[in-house]
Amino acid sequence: MYTPRPLDTLNILIRSLHVVAVVFLIGGIAPSHVVAGVARRTSDPKGQLALWVAWLRMGKVSGMSALLMIATGVTLTFTMNFGFFPGDHLWLALKQGILCLALVTIGLMMGPVRAAEKAVQEAVNAGGGMTPEIAGLIKKPANLGRMLDLFGCLNLILALWRPGE
Ligand code: HEM
Repeated sequence: MYTPRPLDTLNILIRSLHVVAVVFLIGGIAPSHVVAGVARRTSDPKGQLALWVAWLRMGKVSGMSALLMIATGVTLTFTMNFGFFPGDHLWLALKQGILCLALVTIGLMMGPVRAAEKAVQEAVNAGGGMTPEIAGLIKKPANLGRMLDLFGCLNLILALWRPGE
């Protein structure tokens, strides 16, 4: 028989916020790939630039969701007395390991994202369109973003599967 573990009100609140953050984060993956795919196939430079503006804005929403997800995940780690890299909860140790990889990836992404945002904003202000230079600047954040999407999906699977529990 399924017996729910005792959760106090604060834990229910933090856990709910964690899952809300997960919904925003994971929920943004598919739309962002659709927007990037359409942007790559659009031939009109102004239309293409507008789609990359949308893609970068979606990245900001994902970034904020990731902050909430990390804050609530770390808080749950303490409030539920799991601790960091617990040997008796492999799924959580793996989730935390993936978090470390994700933080390194985010660190590598910050500079390229800022450079791409600046170039895109300048082109928008000048009333211009997509250029090969901007396309080159967007390539790195787009590739690193794919890795973050993979990390997010792995963490979701680990949270639901819970190997080692
Ligand atoms: C994109 C990344 C993440 C996703 C998709 C994710 C997903 C989830 C989901 C769906 C749950 C609820 C599981 C359930 O109720 O059965 C959960 C719970 C939890 N997550 Fe995450 N999570 C992520 C990142 C993290 C991180 C980075 C940490 C810790 C540093 C963390 C720690 C926890 C803890 C402690 C719980 C509570 C487990 C329990 O209720 O027993 N999560 N996570």
